Amino acid sequence: MFIPIEEAVVVLKRGGIVALPTETVYGLAADATSAGAVKKIFVAKNRPADNPLICHFYSIEQVKQYVETVPAYAVVLIDEFCPGPLSFLLPLKNDSLLLTATAGKSSVVCRIPQHWLMLAIITQLNVPLAAPSANTSGKISPVNAQMVEDDLGKKIDGIVDGGECVVGVESTIIDCRNPDQISILRPGVIGKTELEEVLTKHHITVPIIESANESQVVPGNKYPHYSPTTPVKLIHSLDELKDITDDIVIISSDEKLNTVKDFNCRKLSLGSITDTELVAQNLYKNLKAIDDLKVSVAYYLETDWGQTSVGKAVENRLGKVAH
Ligand code: TXA
Ligand code: MG
Repeated sequence: MFIPIEEAVVVLKRGGIVALPTETVYGLAADATSAGAVKKIFVAKNRPADNPLICHFYSIEQVKQYVETVPAYAVVLIDEFCPGPLSFLLPLKNDSLLLTATAGKSSVVCRIPQHWLMLAIITQLNVPLAAPSANTSGKISPVNAQMVEDDLGKKIDGIVDGGECVVGVESTIIDCRNPDQISILRPGVIGKTELEEVLTKHHITVPIIESANESQVVPGNKYPHYSPTTPVKLIHSLDELKDITDDIVIISSDEKLNTVKDFNCRKLSLGSITDTELVAQNLYKNLKAIDDLKVSVAYYLETDWGQTSVGKAVENRLGKVAH
């Protein structure tokens, strides 16, 4: 059910759960300081109890009310990139109200989202919002209100329609618990290159480690992700296929699909390697479209999406879909 922003504020205030737009993907939000509200998110998403929820704030001042310290480099990065698709793992204060949201962990992933609707709602409520992606655990993250409705519509108290998400893949998560080192825990459109550029500008030297599959730190990395119902298998070349019929779909870049255009099978383009921002923006809609084709299996013909941060984020997500 689509609801207006005023109603979303009322529902969240009394402990309900509402899907809200962000610039990356839609989030399923609840008052992060209310254990009862946060538990509803775990139930609606069927989320494993050990998988903590990312929390959304409207400013660095609000973040500071909940975390123990923010290292100097993180203050600079927040200042330069936020509101925006960059999230920060920081140590919580003792006896924090956010402990249900963090599944008992002593640190919290903090994010200041860019979408004006979400920011306006957090500002009005004056509490952080726990908001993991608004999909059933393991399924595709939604990038518009209809995708949320199709997946979780009957299990939640409402959806605020804020249009299509402009980024299309989830925020970059960086570990900021160590004042002398940054680790990228989940790649996103802001990557090592962009982080280094800003830190250099501010004369800050901190090593940045790309350790994107750290399931020790980020429990979500160990669970299956972004899965259409149709099985998706990874292939490196068409030689790996025995039968090429119209009961299969090959998904890949425009460039790779050009090499298979004479084959008798379905094809679904993820876009061109020359515009990976657009590929990211459309990625989850394309993955969802696989199921609409009603084929028995999809093959992802592997593509090199390049070395830009957005290209690496696309590659990371596709790596979780097709093996
Ligand atoms: O762009 C995004 O980050 C979106 C939008 C809605 O803000 N949110 C999102 O949330 O992607 P979610 O829950 O789908 O992914 C967050 C990841 C999960 O893998 C989770 O395990 C990890 O962050 N995470 C959250 N809180 C954590 C914590 N306290 N410690 C370690 N990992 C945490
Ligand atoms: Mg998610």
